[in-house]
Amino acid sequence: MATKSYYEELKEKIHFHNHRYHVMDSPVISDAEFDKLLNELKRIEAEHPDWITADSPTRRAGAKPADRFDKVRHPAPILSLANAFGADDARAWLERVKRIDDRVEKAKFVVEPKIDGLSVVLHYRDGVFVQGATRGDGEVGEDITQNLRTIRSIPLKIPVQKSKQSSVISVPKYLVIRGEAFMPVKEFEALNRKLEEAGEKTYQNPRNTAAGSLRQLDSELTASRPLTILVYQIVHAEGGKVPTSQWEILEYLKALGFPVTDIAKRFDDFEKAIAYTESWEKKRDDLSYETDGMVIKIDDLTLAAELGFVGKDPRGAIAFKFPAREVTTTLNDIGVAVGRTGVLTPYAVLEAVEIGGVIVERATLHNFDYIAEKDIRIGDRVLVKRAGEVIPYVIGPVVDARKGKEKKYKPPTKCPACGQDVEHFEGEVAWYCVNAACPAQLVRNIEHYVSRGAMDIEGLGIKIVEQLIESGLVKDVADLYTLKRDQLLALEGFKDKKTDNLLSAIQNSKTQSLARLIAALGIHGVGEVMAGDLAVTFPELEALSKSSAEELQQIEGLGPNIAESIVDWFARSSNQKLLKKLKAVGMWPKGGKSKVESRASDVFGGLTFVVTGTLPTFSRDDAKAFIESHGGKVTDSVSKKTSYLVLGENPGSKFDKAKALGVRIIGEAELKKLAK
Ligand code: IVH
Repeated sequence: MATKSYYEELKEKIHFHNHRYHVMDSPVISDAEFDKLLNELKRIEAEHPDWITADSPTRRAGAKPADRFDKVRHPAPILSLANAFGADDARAWLERVKRIDDRVEKAKFVVEPKIDGLSVVLHYRDGVFVQGATRGDGEVGEDITQNLRTIRSIPLKIPVQKSKQSSVISVPKYLVIRGEAFMPVKEFEALNRKLEEAGEKTYQNPRNTAAGSLRQLDSELTASRPLTILVYQIVHAEGGKVPTSQWEILEYLKALGFPVTDIAKRFDDFEKAIAYTESWEKKRDDLSYETDGMVIKIDDLTLAAELGFVGKDPRGAIAFKFPAREVTTTLNDIGVAVGRTGVLTPYAVLEAVEIGGVIVERATLHNFDYIAEKDIRIGDRVLVKRAGEVIPYVIGPVVDARKGKEKKYKPPTKCPACGQDVEHFEGEVAWYCVNAACPAQLVRNIEHYVSRGAMDIEGLGIKIVEQLIESGLVKDVADLYTLKRDQLLALEGFKDKKTDNLLSAIQNSKTQSLARLIAALGIHGVGEVMAGDLAVTFPELEALSKSSAEELQQIEGLGPNIAESIVDWFARSSNQKLLKKLKAVGMWPKGGKSKVESRASDVFGGLTFVVTGTLPTFSRDDAKAFIESHGGKVTDSVSKKTSYLVLGENPGSKFDKAKALGVRIIGEAELKKLAK
């Protein structure tokens, strides 16, 4: 039994490692070790639910979705910043504030990155994160506590830190801080790639994605988004002292375990602050987040506060904006790229234009719905943005600049890579090319064909697939079967053994079942299970290829969308050609008559089964065929060697014997599960 103090220790330990991983980027234990600690904590909490407090590392996600956000009044106004466009503008700001207060003459300045994210306010009581809010109108924000809890770099409990002099830094009883939550550019791109491959809508930019993710009512969704934060301000403190200079605040927040920018610098000389600011204009793409400038702050916060405000902008700081990376140019044409999964993605062909030092001629248009929603027409003047390393994208048309000759765009009906008809599936925004031989998708198709759940051809990784395609040896999956030994030996990295192993793995795949072949073809919506059912209903591939949507829909669980997708796939002449080639090379298995023959695998290899009683759906023969098709053996009597007794209703004496011998007893449903 765990003691409470052990539990508290474990919590501290996990907070510590969380901090090392998410804030310091330097973990001292492996992910597996971390998971072990977290699992142990979960186990203790399951035993002692009364011990759980809001700061437990297990409490990051999982609260019920809210139906709306409550309002939170900020303890002090959450201010904005005035902008300066260029060095002269910044110098003019300095002159203005000097005139208001001559102490500015001797002021120091802190330069920080201006992170393009979402301003959030975090409340800590006795060091525990108790509330988090959006900026809102600066007075009142929205309570997004649950969502903010899912951001791993936000400490749920301020870790006790020692200062350099080894005295413990005190934390005010009530501390409210402000920071910028954001999605790192790389994570944003990875997320968009995933969405695109799944045929879902992609996001426009990291800022919108971060904002959208934080305003999700379901915090589980927020938790799945790779968000992080950098903090820079103390909004309010009660019951404890906090520093009064910006530089010390950054150091203080860092010492408390908060993530703080590591490129902030303090200057005595304003010109040096400007030079440092400008140096980041060129290097802005080196940062992991998007930035639209730097913030120059008067270091002495008492002086800064006394300077007062202009509207919502404090006089004591200025946002030095980098030149916008948005320009207008002409949209000369719309092209379409075909991705690895067959998704068609439109892109803008632009009149070449410089954006922030880079010549841009192409920009993404996300998807066809986006073009329609924004009413983007060919010939339009369009606003294009290039931010960070993100692919430039078209923000929208400049409608006022239209001359009347702009042309509305119609999405293609044929794949630009192979000329075949394209398809759209209900519930998805993307349009697809579903031609298995489309050169744009060939790598992925072959990868899928040889994968474990399909033909299971070992030794054919993506590198080799690419090699085979590049060398022109393989133009579709059927070509794999006619590969010659000397052709492979001529390729880089192929030695005798590797070649022979690959060739025999390919030839061995001819013994795979029809179900696997159907799954391997990569028909949209047809996975392993559906392929198994199809192979049962259509023991001949020819029969399946001639089936109608109505016939297909007789199969349980096969709806009109998949039926249509199957019919379309077989209707394509390129796919018919592929089937002919497969037949010619001998890759032409027959399906099973019983419900199961076609789903062969070896999962039951070496296992012995006995069946007794009446099973819910299987006849005795079905059950036998099912087990055998998965590599298992069926015998009549129970012995010590029996691995499983499959039990139905009204069993005979076999049941008693199995119990006596301690044989494992399962039902039909479990049998099916085991086979998966
Ligand atoms: S200071 C009085 N520092 O930029 C304090 N703001 O354009 C005012 N921002 O609303 C804010 N990084 O959301 C400050 N290092 C930084 C910042 C920063 C990003 C945002 C913030 C603010 C907006 C003003």
